Amino acid sequence: MGLRFSFQVLLPIFLLLVTAATTCVSATYPMSMRFDRMETDSLGDLPPDFVAYNYTQTLDHFNYKPESYATFQQKYVMNFKYWGGPNTSSPIFVHAGAEVPVTWGIGGFIVDLASQFNGLLLFIEHRYYGDSMPFGSEEEAYQNASTLGYFSSTQALADYAQLITDVKKNLSAENCPVIAVGGSYGGMLASWLRLKYPHIVIGALASSAPILYFDDITPQNGYHVVVTKDFREYSESCYNTIKESWNEIDRVGAQTNGLVNLSSIFSTCSPLDSSHKLKRQLAVVYVVSAQYDNPPENWVSKVCSAIDGAPQGTDILGRVAAGLNASVFGGGPCNHISDFGLNNKSGWHWQDIKTVLKKFASNIIFSNGLRDPYSAGGVLQDISDSVVAIYTNEGAHGLDLGDSSPSDPDWLVAQKEKEIKIIQLWIAEYNARLSTKTGNRVGS
Ligand SMILES: *[C@@H]1O[C@H](CO)[C@@H](O)[C@H](O)[C@H]1NC(C)=O
Ligand SMILES: *[C@@H]1O[C@H](CO)[C@@H](O)[C@H](O)[C@H]1NC(C)=O
Ligand SMILES: *[C@@H]1O[C@H](CO)[C@@H](O)[C@H](O)[C@H]1NC(C)=O
Ligand SMILES: *[C@@H]1O[C@H](CO)[C@@H](O)[C@H](O)[C@H]1NC(C)=O
Ligand SMILES: *[C@@H]1O[C@H](CO)[C@@H](O)[C@H](O)[C@H]1NC(C)=O
Ligand SMILES: *[C@@H]1O[C@H](CO)[C@@H](O)[C@H](O)[C@H]1NC(C)=O
Ligand SMILES: *[C@@H]1O[C@H](CO)[C@@H](O)[C@H](O)[C@H]1NC(C)=O
Repeated sequence: MGLRFSFQVLLPIFLLLVTAATTCVSATYPMSMRFDRMETDSLGDLPPDFVAYNYTQTLDHFNYKPESYATFQQKYVMNFKYWGGPNTSSPIFVHAGAEVPVTWGIGGFIVDLASQFNGLLLFIEHRYYGDSMPFGSEEEAYQNASTLGYFSSTQALADYAQLITDVKKNLSAENCPVIAVGGSYGGMLASWLRLKYPHIVIGALASSAPILYFDDITPQNGYHVVVTKDFREYSESCYNTIKESWNEIDRVGAQTNGLVNLSSIFSTCSPLDSSHKLKRQLAVVYVVSAQYDNPPENWVSKVCSAIDGAPQGTDILGRVAAGLNASVFGGGPCNHISDFGLNNKSGWHWQDIKTVLKKFASNIIFSNGLRDPYSAGGVLQDISDSVVAIYTNEGAHGLDLGDSSPSDPDWLVAQKEKEIKIIQLWIAEYNARLSTKTGNRVGS
């Protein structure tokens, strides 16, 4: 219901995939969040016309040891409302599930695409998220290195490839072209799916996918440079207040009963036990505000208006506290300070992606909004004729995958139209090739 694709709840689990730790990804913040549903527990509810299924998925796609043949139940969700059926070779739009339960990502631009192209909608949940837990439960699945060993994007891509193939077979839809769509980590998966399984996926729309965000390709601090730029562009005084607040928090926190004062200034729900936790929380507030600085909310301007607009004479901490209240995290009777513990585990390995894309990739749209800190690791230039970059200066994270709204600005409408045109071309090319191959006319 009017959900923006881009907001997905902040769970510590995100940090599993997005930590600074280990080898490659240097950004430390959750890539997707969904605040609008934090209060409800009806996360499993599906919109009309969407039905959930289970698929008996292979635990390990890359070994032939006896234990590799173990399976787990993988959740997927379909919507047949718009589908033209197998005989018209109507396309299948696959949402590449990311680091959240699949039910949170239902809706948005992909539904417009299905409606426009008579497409079947297939949303697949990523293993180790939501209901798609190997070993029967989350506790078991996350238990130790043996059980977590199957938690990797490589395995997840193989899951998607196998499930798509099986769904097509069951529907006698072998001839239907498949287009992968995803945002953020899901966008990376969508582009990798096209790259690794080109015979299964004819094209991919990868929104806000920081696939260049790996050591030696993008500067380590690229993400934070964009966060800073977003705030500074809005207001220099806001930027300065925030900049000075870090030392001020340390200074006050170090005094006798200073933590009590900080707890009171920031209206924390429970007393702070370190100023570090407060700083980390505020950092997350700024990062999330920048990452989701999309209309109509425009969180950077909300936070900065509160900081700049505090009554005259308000000191630095009072201003920053007002900013916290005005942020997406504020608005409650008190402010929760989360324990954003970092986790070491990460299964991400990718090298020299630009060369790989140039040599082996085709039919991928990389879409970005430059206000999104993750755009620092995004593809912002066309790599080839069919691996193209479509970005807006004004948008932030995952905006183009959201629901359409009459209030959408022109630049967003234009971005989506460009994407539709390209996808139309992929489908037309595919059908042309199919009809010469089979001698039949397909599509209409
Ligand atoms: C899928 O399997 C799980 C248990 O593995 C079960 O709880 C759930 O109801 C099943 N869902 C469907 C749609 O069959
Ligand atoms: C598709 O074509 C096959 C073979 O011609 C036919 O048996 C089937 O009924 C058709 N299916 C639909 C949904 O039209
Ligand atoms: C993980 O836990 C399982 C079940 O308790 C156990 O059999 C296995 O040996 C453990 N593996 C490691 C590496 O600790
Ligand atoms: C396809 O059909 C088989 C046999 O009914 C079933 O076991 C399998 O789960 C189906 N695959 C999907 C993806 O639904
Ligand atoms: C803490 O608050 C008390 C009472 O408002 C004030 O007297 C004291 O100076 C404050 N301490 C710091 C470190 O700000
Ligand atoms: C922040 O919100 C809390 C809870 O409504 C309120 O008590 C506090 O005064 C607010 N602080 C600022 C600086 O606006
Ligand atoms: C990473 O793991 C090691 C060993 O388990 C631990 O000592 C270290 O604190 C962890 N680092 C982070 C950032 O969690």
